[in-house]
Amino acid sequence: MEAIFDIPVKGTTHSVLHEVDWKNLPFGRYVSDHMFICQYKNGEWQDPQIKPFQNISVAPTMLALHYGQSVFEGMKAFRMKDGRINIFRIEKHHQRINASLDRMCMPPIPYELFATALQQLVSVDKDWVPEGEDVALYIRPLVFASEAKFGVKVSDEYTLIIMTGPVSTLYQKPIKVKVERHYIRAAKGGVGYAKCAGNYGGAFYATQKAREEGFDNVLWMDAFEHEYIEESGTMNLLFVIDEKLITPPLSDSILDGITRDSLLTIAKDLGIETEERKISISEIVKALDDGCSVEAFGAGTAAVVAPISVIGVDGELYHLPTYTNGSVMNKLKKALEAIRSGRTEDKYGWNCVV
Ligand code: COI
Repeated sequence: MEAIFDIPVKGTTHSVLHEVDWKNLPFGRYVSDHMFICQYKNGEWQDPQIKPFQNISVAPTMLALHYGQSVFEGMKAFRMKDGRINIFRIEKHHQRINASLDRMCMPPIPYELFATALQQLVSVDKDWVPEGEDVALYIRPLVFASEAKFGVKVSDEYTLIIMTGPVSTLYQKPIKVKVERHYIRAAKGGVGYAKCAGNYGGAFYATQKAREEGFDNVLWMDAFEHEYIEESGTMNLLFVIDEKLITPPLSDSILDGITRDSLLTIAKDLGIETEERKISISEIVKALDDGCSVEAFGAGTAAVVAPISVIGVDGELYHLPTYTNGSVMNKLKKALEAIRSGRTEDKYGWNCVV
């Protein structure tokens, strides 16, 4: 993709690339040398720059700190088998960040600005893109209300920052999840589909409680009946029951996951039957009790796929079978990786080669 305009690279960088332990890339530990920053004022995005990664100074009255107008994205860039770098599904991430911004009364980001910023930032820090399986350069676009005024109002000013850092997949082993019947993540008519900061902060309490009980994550249920499965932790959720791939349909309480969408598309191409429909926890328990073959896994940008080994339901533990190379989850993951690494045809144009 051609860059539409040149973003100035300002300041002197003291690279910390040599500090990276490439064999151990926990999510969020490393931040690359540069960041993109841009301000929204007087009704337009202005002064885009790439600068050395640095602290920013904000007023204590800044609106995002008080009323939570803050949204983000999670994206990845991959090193392909021929050494080139691609950023995965820029268009879909752009649509999603604008949907989140709209829900939070924040201004949209023009596609040219978003795509150009991503490409130029990743090019400047190309040496930070790791090579190998299960690793990538994570990209975190963040927009927050930066007007300094604590009156309760929609901000007139915003800051967009994009930062990056090399990561491995979020979970290194199968996870144990607990069906959450009391606390909820999102309700009908709420902001669950938006990638706004409060959805994550609001989930910490229940997650922490589940961790105290020995689980890794919460399995979020619908807010009304507490029976229909919505998401798990920070991921979408997919099940395979007797070879059929089933996932809850998108709604205003479920994030439109880009890994979810990619896996569903790949599954259809592989001839796997897919269903986007409501799925209750009782249906999963029954399938396990009846001896059906069941897979359960989370899907998200940071996690890619996260196999679930145990589901805790009202005090009972249900163990799922081990995920072999032949599992549907692993077939889908491998097919996704083959596209991103350039080993198979990218027939949907998902890879934006930088
Ligand atoms: C992602 O999967 O990229 C996310 O944004 C979820 C999380 C790690 C915060």
